[in-house]
Amino acid sequence: MAIDKKFIKQFVNVTSKAAIASSYFVGKKDKIAADKAAVDSMRKELNIMNIKGEIVIGEGELDEAPMLYIGEKIGTKNGPEFDIAVDPLEGTNFAANNLPGALSVMAIAEKDNLFKAPETYMEKISTKVSEKNVVDLDFSVKKNIFNLSEYLNKKPENLTACILDRPRHNEIISKLKDLKVKIKFISDGDVAGALLVTDEKYSVDIFLGTGGGPEGVLAAAALDAFDCGFQGRFLFKTDKDKQRAREMGIDNLTKKYDLNEIIRGDSIFCATGITSCDLVKGVNLNIKSNEFTSETLVTHKSSGLKNIIKLNQIV
Ligand code: FBP
Repeated sequence: MAIDKKFIKQFVNVTSKAAIASSYFVGKKDKIAADKAAVDSMRKELNIMNIKGEIVIGEGELDEAPMLYIGEKIGTKNGPEFDIAVDPLEGTNFAANNLPGALSVMAIAEKDNLFKAPETYMEKISTKVSEKNVVDLDFSVKKNIFNLSEYLNKKPENLTACILDRPRHNEIISKLKDLKVKIKFISDGDVAGALLVTDEKYSVDIFLGTGGGPEGVLAAAALDAFDCGFQGRFLFKTDKDKQRAREMGIDNLTKKYDLNEIIRGDSIFCATGITSCDLVKGVNLNIKSNEFTSETLVTHKSSGLKNIIKLNQIV
């Protein structure tokens, strides 16, 4: 079944309000306050919606996150059942330091269609190619680049790979360099990083590396609507992580997940800019009219909607 279009506007309102709430803390060197403002606002707005929602990706487990925790029931319960993945403030450092790239993000699917992901790292790969066996987490960097090069008819030196700038990626980075691939390093924010493959205008052909698992699931929801490719594999380090994953129903801890195993059926994805980035502009306050302008990248899979929605609102 398709998710009723009336919900698009309502969910855009939720991430926009969270972005505005968080925007008060931009450049205040306080990522906890910026995050809290976004979480409080998102939870409040979701709870007045006529939906029967469950948080499947949230701020953490109940013992560490009292709000928007994994498993929290949300909404008035008068309405359709949804699985909801949230990252009220993705890029806490960006917001705290007033740097480009802070977003308020949410993905919604019908009940039991969105992966319930634990708080752990995930190896990820995204490209604009949705066909199987072109790019794969099990292939070497070299094989992926050569396959992509052939598929896109672009020499490796004309390809750009986006990756989080982390020491754990040194090996991948050195292989990319050997292949003369251009690299776009990001310091944080790999939901946005993974989405740069969705449009030629961002000049990114492949996103790869290890980042947050929840961020991987969120990105997958948007990539699905853009008909792009995504694969993810969770990395469980501690026994506690492994135990928790099993409790959440993950039996094979080393499984590679294809996009359609992470999200199925219809979905809505919203990402509102708190600070500007390639995808969307950040929240802007017009002092004279006291109006906030926000931009949200929104997708609705069944209707094919992939758009930027601009809202002007007084809050
Ligand atoms: P926060 O918004 O929680 O600060 O996460 C930012 C982020 O860069 C994510 O986009 C990414 O998935 C993750 O952190 C990477 O984690 P790490 O900084 O540990 O490499």
